[in-house]
Amino acid sequence: WHVAVLMGGWSAERSVSLSSGEGVAKALESRGHRVTRIDMACDVAQRLAETAPDVVFNALHGVPGEDGTVQGMMDLMGLKYTHSGLATSVIAIDKQLTKQALVPHGVPMPGGHIIESESLYAGDPLPRPYVLKPVNEGSSVGVAIVTAESNFGNPISRDSEGPWKHFKELLAEPYIRGRELTTAVLADEALLVTELCPKSGFYDFDAKYTDGMTEHVCPADIPADIAQACKDIALKAHRLLGCKGTSRSDFRWDDEQGIEGLYLLEVNTQPGMTALSLVPEQAAKLGIDYAELVERIIEEALA
Ligand code: DAL
Ligand code: MG
Repeated sequence: WHVAVLMGGWSAERSVSLSSGEGVAKALESRGHRVTRIDMACDVAQRLAETAPDVVFNALHGVPGEDGTVQGMMDLMGLKYTHSGLATSVIAIDKQLTKQALVPHGVPMPGGHIIESESLYAGDPLPRPYVLKPVNEGSSVGVAIVTAESNFGNPISRDSEGPWKHFKELLAEPYIRGRELTTAVLADEALLVTELCPKSGFYDFDAKYTDGMTEHVCPADIPADIAQACKDIALKAHRLLGCKGTSRSDFRWDDEQGIEGLYLLEVNTQPGMTALSLVPEQAAKLGIDYAELVERIIEEALA
């Protein structure tokens, strides 16, 4: 195949995408495929048209590579590309739209609502502890956990550093104590459950991408019914949203509440493919090495 690997861009996850893209490109080259690396910029359509690949491997994360914009452009150009299409991407990038799509189908997700960041200076939108996050960022960019003891102030102070300074609106959700779990879906099959145990206590950007900062327990040491529920929910969400290729569903599990304490936080349609990323790790545990994973994702795009 001649594969254009689309990476980079200008989202907050640019560096993650470059790392995912380089991993994918090297793996494809090791399998004898022809690869053109494209660092996404405003001339991306022209670059893709000149390259005329058999297929585009979309290794972008965040906006506009994960929110349907780039997908719509590739649809117009008649290009085949990996991962989810336009409509799925529009919904899945937005954590609030994802809830509106999945909760009516019985998928357990935390409550919460969108607030104007400005309103935080007048008072809390929810009882503490709660979480504030931009609706459409990845890798925990802009996520803040506001606890009773938090040094953001009470109410949150204008002088405190947090996502309220950078985003006009934020999603406010109750904080779910307990454990962080994730499940990948590949070609309509749920893989495994990984528990993330960040040494800092919070699985934030640094804990995600700094080797040694988070222990990955895969398969997770959790009761069988919780593991099965993660897989069932991940597959159900993947299907309801119409995801393609691969997706990764992230969960919080309050282990004092049993199955009632399991909540889906979001579905990632462009999950990371870096050396520390979770989809490749789960695939590897099942005997699918990184290059084979990349080829399987491409095969689904070409089918
Ligand atoms: N947003 C990052 C890349 C992930 O979900 O893996
Ligand atoms: Mg995400």
